[in-house]
Amino acid sequence: MKIGFIGTGRIATAIIRGMHLKKMQVKKIFISARNKKNSSFLKKKYKKVSVLNNNQHILHHSDIIFLTITPKVGKHILSKLQFKKNQTVFNLMSTIHNSELKKMIGKVKKIIKVAPLPMIEHGIGPIIIYPKDTFAENFFSKLGEVFSSTNEEFNKKLWVMTSFMATFLEIYKTNVDWLRKKGISEETGRKYLSRLFESLSKETLNNRSVNLAKFVKSFQTKGGINEQLLTKLRGFKFFNKLQNSLNTVYSRIKK
Ligand SMILES: NC(=O)c1ccc[n+]([C@@H]2O[C@H](COP(=O)([O-])OP(=O)(O)OC[C@H]3O[C@@H](n4cnc5c(N)ncnc54)[C@H](OP(=O)(O)O)[C@@H]3O)[C@@H](O)[C@H]2O)c1
Repeated sequence: MKIGFIGTGRIATAIIRGMHLKKMQVKKIFISARNKKNSSFLKKKYKKVSVLNNNQHILHHSDIIFLTITPKVGKHILSKLQFKKNQTVFNLMSTIHNSELKKMIGKVKKIIKVAPLPMIEHGIGPIIIYPKDTFAENFFSKLGEVFSSTNEEFNKKLWVMTSFMATFLEIYKTNVDWLRKKGISEETGRKYLSRLFESLSKETLNNRSVNLAKFVKSFQTKGGINEQLLTKLRGFKFFNKLQNSLNTVYSRIKK
């Protein structure tokens, strides 16, 4: 299997690292010098990685192509490239759907939309796939938990959730900052919050069949501090605003 990446940014780097961590059977990995820092790092670290001169050379040498560029760059460069009819293309561009991509690149063996997340670097995290495809499922199940579907709308709705990562981390940061301002070291704050979020995440996995409203309630004592903070945030319409904001992301993705 020879794999080529168009775009060597954050997610391409994480996928290549994850593939090595999980010792996946790959003959060669071709990348371009864009981004320079990432490509030099990957070439130095992994002997199967080669840096080629341009995107067309990457396509020429690979059976599987990862499109790890932004949608804006994709619209600019993809229709000028020659893809091969026997290539499998993994489309990672959030707002470019497979039908639109097909018009840009012409006939290939298959186009699969995939949403891995940066945690793939450690071989963990959810990975959304559309349409359902055995090869893609086998490939990505080595790198995380696959959520595949034959329904494109299902796929688009799960993609919306991938937009929550930075907001989650901003919530993490807000709490660490609060502790720091109160004199608790950043190191301790980060460690405490990491463990808190890790254990809460495990609770959600261990209680998957519990009614969600009851689940939220089970973490509040009447008159207690969890109830206090939640009531305050509900009063600000924090959660309604979050729902509305998810709708704005969905509008971009579903078009
Ligand atoms: N990050 C995520 O969690 C994530 C998850 C799922 C899907 N995605 C999708 O994956 C794509 C890439 O995201 P990212 O976070 O990895 O972005 P990124 O770090 O900005 O990477 C984009 C890469 O594209 C390169 N590039 C720009 N113009 C190019 C060209 N003409 N030819 C070849 N490469 C070019 C950039 O190189 P320079 O730095 O040299 O400009 C950079 O290496 C996006 O479509 C995004 O929606 C990302």
